[in-house]
Amino acid sequence: MVTNDSFLKACRREPVPTVPVWYMRQAGRYDPDYRKIKEKFSLLDICKQPELAAEVTLMPVRKLGVDAAILYSDIMNPVASMGIDFDIVANIGPVIHNPIRTAADVARLRPIDVDGDLPHIMETIRILDRELTVPLITFAGAPFTIASYLIEGKPSKQYLRTKAMMYGEPDVWFALMDKLGDMVIAYLKAQAAAGAKAVQLFDSWVGALAPHDFDVYVLPVITRIFHELANVTQPKIYFPGVSSGELLPSLARLEADVIGLDWRVSIAEGRRRVGERFAVQGNLDPVVLTAPMQVIERHAAALLDEGMKRPGYIFNLGHGLFPEASLDKLKGLTAFVHDYSSSRFAAGVERSEAR
Ligand code: CP3
Repeated sequence: MVTNDSFLKACRREPVPTVPVWYMRQAGRYDPDYRKIKEKFSLLDICKQPELAAEVTLMPVRKLGVDAAILYSDIMNPVASMGIDFDIVANIGPVIHNPIRTAADVARLRPIDVDGDLPHIMETIRILDRELTVPLITFAGAPFTIASYLIEGKPSKQYLRTKAMMYGEPDVWFALMDKLGDMVIAYLKAQAAAGAKAVQLFDSWVGALAPHDFDVYVLPVITRIFHELANVTQPKIYFPGVSSGELLPSLARLEADVIGLDWRVSIAEGRRRVGERFAVQGNLDPVVLTAPMQVIERHAAALLDEGMKRPGYIFNLGHGLFPEASLDKLKGLTAFVHDYSSSRFAAGVERSEAR
């Protein structure tokens, strides 16, 4: 049962006693216990064992004291059900054995079958729903970000083939966006029904697009996804990924509750760009975690001072944790976010600065 709901309150822009905090990619290789599990099992093996996947999800919650859990899974898991054959290769990421390059490739993609192909993920969510005292966030990869893996066949810097399809064969591109949009909607609905307390859409790489191209080639499917999820009552988060600052004004009408910010835009500017309707989540540069603790705290305090000026702020990183991060510093940072924000709230800071 969820006894700590400060994360859900912040998603809904309700007042909280302390600023909630969780970390993107909080289950991972910075934790020696996780590395031990990874010696025996691959990421995909872990995901197929619900008890183990639930345990890996719980580990950072217990160790770090964060206010939300994020399902241990990967954005690629559901595309296996569409007929994509892939591996997650250590230190590289998703590698696709049958990349999508043509109209015929797109036509062959099947709708996902959650009950038939992904029952282990739904079972993990049900286990976590019973065991967690903080809310469980589940997630999907957004159409552009998934398409970039499916088309390139591996992680990419330029997105040359992805953009070549987008600009050169818009019919094929939009057919692919439609199919991936359907996948996201079905998958997030199933997660919400299985017990997720919030859902996040990761569009990690869409910041590679010019704002106008985002509006033309990607925003329609993102708009449709959140519109079709209107009956999902759990908070919905859109993370437009790295270098997404220039895209934020395009998001102002999205039927989502929270927008994730990367560190290249300030909290104040991010709020100004997306408008009043959203809570915001972010956005410490993860590399700040390499600095001494007092430098980390100085950066965190600056973010909190800005974030706490309005209800609807969730402390997080601007992108994922890296394997070299330190468990002790993360623990220290979590405690700092809680202590600093509760003492500032107690001092009435948010009210005096809110105007
Ligand atoms: O705590 C958590 O966040 C765990 C759940 C999680 C994973 N992937 C597990 C994972 C989540 C939320 C993701 C999302 C994900 N996967 C994204 C969106 C977030 C982001 O970082 O932008 C993306 C783009 C992917 C695709 C992907 N999978 C990448 C780029 C990598 C990194 C490759 C590497 O080795 O560094 C993966 C592998 C992956 N997914 C790992 C984990 C814990 C690391 C490798 C491992 O431990 O097996």
